[in-house]
Amino acid sequence: MCGIIGCVSEKDCCGILYDGLKRLEYRGYDSAGMAVLGETLAVFKKKGGVDSLAAFYAPGNTGIGHTRWATHGAPSDENAHPHRAGKIALVHNGIVENHAALRRELEGAGERFASETDSEVLAKRIARAYRGDLLSAVRDGLSRAEGSYAVAVIAEDRPGELVAARRKSPLVAGKGQSGAFVCSDIPALAGMAEYIARAEDGEFVRISSGEIEFFDASLRPVPKTFFRAPQAETWLFAAGGDRMRAEIAEIPRALSDTLGALRQTDLAPCARALRTAKRLFAVACGTAYHAALAFAYAVERDAHIPVYCLSSGEFRCRPPLIAAGEVLVAVSQSGETADTLAAARLAKERGAYVIAVTNVGGSSLTAAADFCLVMRAGAEIAVAATKSYNCQLLCLNYLAAQLVFFKETALPPWYDALGDLPAAAQAAFSAFADVDRLAGALTGARAMFFLGRGQDEPTAKEGALKVKEISRVFAEGMPAGELKHGPLALVEGGFPAVCLSTQASLAAKSENTLAEVRARGGYCALFTQQQKWLKESCADVRCRLPALPEPLMPVVAVIPLQYLAYKMCLARGLDPDKPKNLAKSVTVE
Ligand code: AGP
Repeated sequence: MCGIIGCVSEKDCCGILYDGLKRLEYRGYDSAGMAVLGETLAVFKKKGGVDSLAAFYAPGNTGIGHTRWATHGAPSDENAHPHRAGKIALVHNGIVENHAALRRELEGAGERFASETDSEVLAKRIARAYRGDLLSAVRDGLSRAEGSYAVAVIAEDRPGELVAARRKSPLVAGKGQSGAFVCSDIPALAGMAEYIARAEDGEFVRISSGEIEFFDASLRPVPKTFFRAPQAETWLFAAGGDRMRAEIAEIPRALSDTLGALRQTDLAPCARALRTAKRLFAVACGTAYHAALAFAYAVERDAHIPVYCLSSGEFRCRPPLIAAGEVLVAVSQSGETADTLAAARLAKERGAYVIAVTNVGGSSLTAAADFCLVMRAGAEIAVAATKSYNCQLLCLNYLAAQLVFFKETALPPWYDALGDLPAAAQAAFSAFADVDRLAGALTGARAMFFLGRGQDEPTAKEGALKVKEISRVFAEGMPAGELKHGPLALVEGGFPAVCLSTQASLAAKSENTLAEVRARGGYCALFTQQQKWLKESCADVRCRLPALPEPLMPVVAVIPLQYLAYKMCLARGLDPDKPKNLAKSVTVE
């Protein structure tokens, strides 16, 4: 929800903090700030994005930075981080669930607060515990905090030293030629850290004299193995700029790189769990949940076993069905989504075998899982997931094919066509001219439906989510057969309905759905690869999809819908890279 960064660098750290915050901005962008320790401790923070820090400079090689997605307290200069208290400055990502009680205690002890945030409570508690030993003060100041945190703290009388701590919110430490760092995620350290290690829940990190040390809750040293940071070019991206459009254009390359990585992945470690599985569980959130739904359809179609597919938050609200030895597939682009992490950990507690599908190697989900399929989508910065969805579908199709092989010693017939996906994704761009016309016809739309049957239902849900997220038009994705059971009541003159139809066996039913909408004056768009319906459909707009074996069509059918949401967003004068109220990685429950 927020991004934190801290560093002790060889030279002035302002520029390093700023560059890191630009790469963290996708995690939240309603306010930002940094604190730099040189001769004095200088703090600069403002409402607004990281760009508001561009003019800030203070000499010093020890610093912390923060980009915020407001949870407690509206976006404002006062509520921006870092928070100062006594000699210390603090940045925080997470939620202090008992902040109100702690605040009342502190006010009763004479403390006065400058902000409405829960984070300032941590700053004050640490400041009150600080007697010169920053590590102990951070441990003591956090001791009664409930909820989640990743904090980075510096003290004005401890130049060259920084302490960080983590519980449930992600935190990594890294070191490179230019210094030592702590950060919310790995991509933001691209090009700066050569080696990285992850802090686990309850651990503390201290940077001093250029060294990085880890400690447990009792402040006993914890040995850590540092792994080589992902190649900088994998993660380096031009900060800012129109990321979503660029990431849609990267889909063919992302699919090609992901397929290459999959072909080098040995799935033998998960063979036994998959071979003996009588059913599977799948969990994810948002876009990743739609990928999990598509996976469930593919497994039921090809491996003939049921898949319980739940949004991660619901998985823990349901009666505990998963048992020891069963398989849970957890899908998460960031690998840091709190609900998905919690579901994976719960499944592990129950003795299940957890397979993670994620875009960030070294993320918390990879640490929690038994086996990982890591996508090679490259850094996905736009809040609206695009290329990561296509790559999730590829990974999950690959996993479904391996499951079929483990059970039936034969791969599904469409397996060999996986290699055709990058070219088919490129070919999907040719539908963009039709999509431009469709977007133009929808400039006045205030609500719309996305409809699909069978394997097209998850695609319809994903198309609707994209439109909601970035164009802020209400859109509902639903099984096409559900339309006449209620939602059809909303269809009247010009009401838009987008229909996906990639399965020949269901095409006639899809055409019936379009006719139901047209009969009530609705405006219909059909996305299909089927020649017959491209000619005969009653739809107002027909967008041709590239032809592939039907089971692989969802990987590319979504591409024109991703682009449609982008165009509708621009038509409304909105910023596709900074959708209102949203953050890229939801690391709080
Ligand atoms: C999708 O466009 C959104 N950014 C959001 O729904 C996202 O898919 C969801 O928060 C899950 O994120 P994850 O894949 O990193 O777990």
